[in-house]
Amino acid sequence: MASLNDAPIGVFDSGIGGLTVLNALWQTLPQESFVYLADTARIPYGTKSREAVIQYAQQICRQFIRHHRIKALVIACNTASAHALTTLQQEFSDIPVLGVITPSAMAAVNATRNQHIAVIATEGAVRSRAYEEAIAALDKKIRVSSEACQLLVSLVEEGWLEGDITDSIIQRYLQPLFNGNNTPDTLVLGCTHFPLLKPRIENYLGKNVVVIDSASNVAKETRHLLEQRQLLSTEHSKPTQFLVTDSPQRFIATAGIFLGNSLDESKVQHISV
Ligand code: DGL
Repeated sequence: MASLNDAPIGVFDSGIGGLTVLNALWQTLPQESFVYLADTARIPYGTKSREAVIQYAQQICRQFIRHHRIKALVIACNTASAHALTTLQQEFSDIPVLGVITPSAMAAVNATRNQHIAVIATEGAVRSRAYEEAIAALDKKIRVSSEACQLLVSLVEEGWLEGDITDSIIQRYLQPLFNGNNTPDTLVLGCTHFPLLKPRIENYLGKNVVVIDSASNVAKETRHLLEQRQLLSTEHSKPTQFLVTDSPQRFIATAGIFLGNSLDESKVQHISV
């Protein structure tokens, strides 16, 4: 049997948002192999109950272990990280399981100068207050203002990454957070779909607000954990395998825009979890 070091790392999201994390993992861990699952049949996670999201995340991780013998799991979804990280870490204690919230919270705490951080995320992630807790665990004095921006997920899934409609929806969501005195100087993109809108968000906010996305911090944390557990790959990477829970065509079309090249159809497999 091949060594566990050469097993793939499982990465999942409800859709294409987690590709922002996958991209950073490719850069940081070029020798590793990945299997990416987009739960396209059940997107959005952001409007689902905590119990439902935990169940989806458990089903996906069981699938990864059973069919792909993963050596580590990256939850490339803030909503699933907010609801299911602890449950997955307990159930799958044999492998490192990482979420995206703590790495983003750490980056935001390091970036803020006026001790006021804004977080935009899905309804579910905002409701969970996971960011408030993660930031308070690092520095209790920091104020956090959050806004649920569920419609931004749909814009990204549609591939509407720019244009007047996208700009006005961004403005509608961000205006209340950045209006008045003592507004935040740091904004966390608390949903892995949102980095795809980062250029338009930065354009709206101007240069005085630092915009944080979790991707590179999660990738660094993954490398750190693999090093610590002596799980780094000893072989060359294999091509990433993509799994989707609904028909591959839509995923291939939108993911291709984001990845900058068309995805090879033979690498995208439709599965049920
Ligand atoms: N990409 C997701 C997140 O980071 C979820 C989007 C959704 O399914 O609502 O929360």
